[in-house]
Amino acid sequence: MSKDSISAEMVGIGCYVPEKVLTNADFERIVDTSDEWITTRTGIKRRHVVGDSGEATSDMCIKAARQALADADMSPKELDLILIGTCTPDMKTPSAAVIVQRHLGATNAAAFDINAACVGYIYGLKAALAFIKSGMYRNILVMGSETLTSITNYQDRTTCVLFGDGAGAAVIKAGNDPTRGILASRIAADGRHEELLFVKTGGSRNPVTPENIGNGSQGIYMNGSEIFRHAVRYMQESSIQVLEDAGMKPEDLKLVIPHQANIRIIDSLRKRLHLPKEKVFVNIQEYGNTSSASIPIAMVEARSRGLLEKGDLVLMVSFGGGLVWGACLVRL
Ligand SMILES: CC(C)(COP(=O)(O)OP(=O)(O)OC[C@H]1O[C@@H](n2cnc3c(N)ncnc32)[C@H](O)[C@@H]1OP(=O)(O)O)[C@@H](O)C(=O)NCCC(=O)NCCS
Repeated sequence: MSKDSISAEMVGIGCYVPEKVLTNADFERIVDTSDEWITTRTGIKRRHVVGDSGEATSDMCIKAARQALADADMSPKELDLILIGTCTPDMKTPSAAVIVQRHLGATNAAAFDINAACVGYIYGLKAALAFIKSGMYRNILVMGSETLTSITNYQDRTTCVLFGDGAGAAVIKAGNDPTRGILASRIAADGRHEELLFVKTGGSRNPVTPENIGNGSQGIYMNGSEIFRHAVRYMQESSIQVLEDAGMKPEDLKLVIPHQANIRIIDSLRKRLHLPKEKVFVNIQEYGNTSSASIPIAMVEARSRGLLEKGDLVLMVSFGGGLVWGACLVRL
């Protein structure tokens, strides 16, 4: 089969979020903030968090993955590869993907994590497309999952109100209909902006020491307004690029599923793409920013609300710390 006739189709999706919820009223008791500030500046009302449930990134992935596999009517043994976009794996090693491989019993699958911050899922879809197009693999499980609350500094009001935990998954399968599946995909990076969003300690540059424990440096630092500015520009740019790559226009889209980081970023993107409100999916009010999990969670919700069905054209677009950004255009 020629490379051009191989398609990478999204044949199953699933998601999971923890039960425990933190509301804006809860944050009014933790830091100096208000429901009004959080709602107007971010659009967030609630976020689901692992709390003291003992759940980690791989636990959420396993639940999302089982749903996606059932949706695809595929057994774990049929998987060739498991990819997890995450910057909050269970531990430094092994990867979350390997832990998921074991628990699913996906004995024929290779497994690795991708750290591309909030764009991990889009990077994963691009990698899956490449593996499938090359003819190397046929069935790939791509996930985005984060336990962001494990790297949240609850003394920093400018960041702690933003984040939630969760996981989303998709089964990508080789097919032979080039009009379906992933039609175009772009990923990009600009490492010059590392200082805008980072976690300072806990890695090999600045390991955890008795001196830095509890000083907030194991939590996310973010320059929110600068990230905001770059996010709008790069999300617009990569959205237009993938549409052009596939010979499509914004009006051909059934739905845009943007990374759920801030309602004002989503609104700016929508206006720049000249799209009506109903074509851009928003669920940030319920989950906050779940990083690489936000898009696959949103896709499951969009479908269960009846907004997506087979044959629909969907644009997913994201950005994150690094900086990294990217978009993926899929015909379901
Ligand atoms: C974080 C973000 C919501 C902050 O909104 P903003 O309008 O840029 O707000 P600023 O950071 O300029 O802060 C404005 C004021 O609100 C205050 N403030 C910050 N957080 C607050 C909170 N939770 N509650 C109340 N006040 C707060 C600031 O201290 C500042 O006060 P000052 O004017 O007295 O100094 C916004 O910048 C954002 O969402 N950026 C993008 C972040 C993002 O998407 N990150 C994810 C990347 S994947």
